[in-house]
Amino acid sequence: MRHYALEAKNLSFRYNQNSPYILKNIDFKLQKGEIVGIVGLSGSGKSTLIQIMNGVIPKRIPGLLEGSICFNGEDMAEKDLSCLAKEIGTIFQDPDCQILFPCAEDEMAFGPENLCYDPYTIIERINSTTKMLAIEPLRYRNPNSVSGGEKQIIALASVLTLNVGIMIFDESMSFIDERGKGLIKNAILKLKEQGKSILMVEHDLSNLEVADHIFLLKNGTLEAFKGVIE
Ligand SMILES: Nc1ncnc2c1ncn2[C@@H]1O[C@H](COP(=O)(O)OP(=O)(O)O)[C@@H](O)[C@H]1O
Ligand SMILES: [Mg+2]
Repeated sequence: MRHYALEAKNLSFRYNQNSPYILKNIDFKLQKGEIVGIVGLSGSGKSTLIQIMNGVIPKRIPGLLEGSICFNGEDMAEKDLSCLAKEIGTIFQDPDCQILFPCAEDEMAFGPENLCYDPYTIIERINSTTKMLAIEPLRYRNPNSVSGGEKQIIALASVLTLNVGIMIFDESMSFIDERGKGLIKNAILKLKEQGKSILMVEHDLSNLEVADHIFLLKNGTLEAFKGVIE
């Protein structure tokens, strides 16, 4: 049976019993090799939805989650976060949140080292990731001395060395100039070519031009985007 990369069924969420529902009865499917974009105003619940899709909610950030969410046909509730980290990678708004090392190669090695992969596999992953993203010139650079777009690509590379099949982008182009946005969009299209499944959330619709489908998150519900955000 063919499974969706991500599938949410009748998902509702509130942070606690006294808080309002941030998400209400959401059904969502991301097919393998597909790019799906979700657009929504600030505060509409995009980051909340993403943290549910990568398991951080409710595994690290508590909350009242109803409904079910599966990745590759497996129930996310039954997996721990270190297991999910090998399957689902997340890129945030600010690459500084995920970059730790003064050399891009060390950054790329960190994830697989943390999961105790052998050194040969780690080098292999770094080689294939730098080649796929065409970032060999960045390999030994200090992420703090490159452009914002290049820094975000290094953050992306450091997640891809975990060999995840699903990539989630949470407004990852917000702090980046037009050239940098081009680099990221290009990288996202390459990931699709590689068969990766991609979910992007954005408040800026123009950043979603690479998406196969776009949905609107509004008042806690998800609907097909028809051209108007508000
Ligand atoms: N940890 C939290 N605890 C309680 N409320 C939160 C928390 N994080 C976000 N919220 C609230 O959830 C709503 C949606 O926020 P968020 O998911 O960050 O939206 P977006 O990413 O679209 O800007 C907002 O009203 C926000 O204040
Ligand atoms: Mg957000």
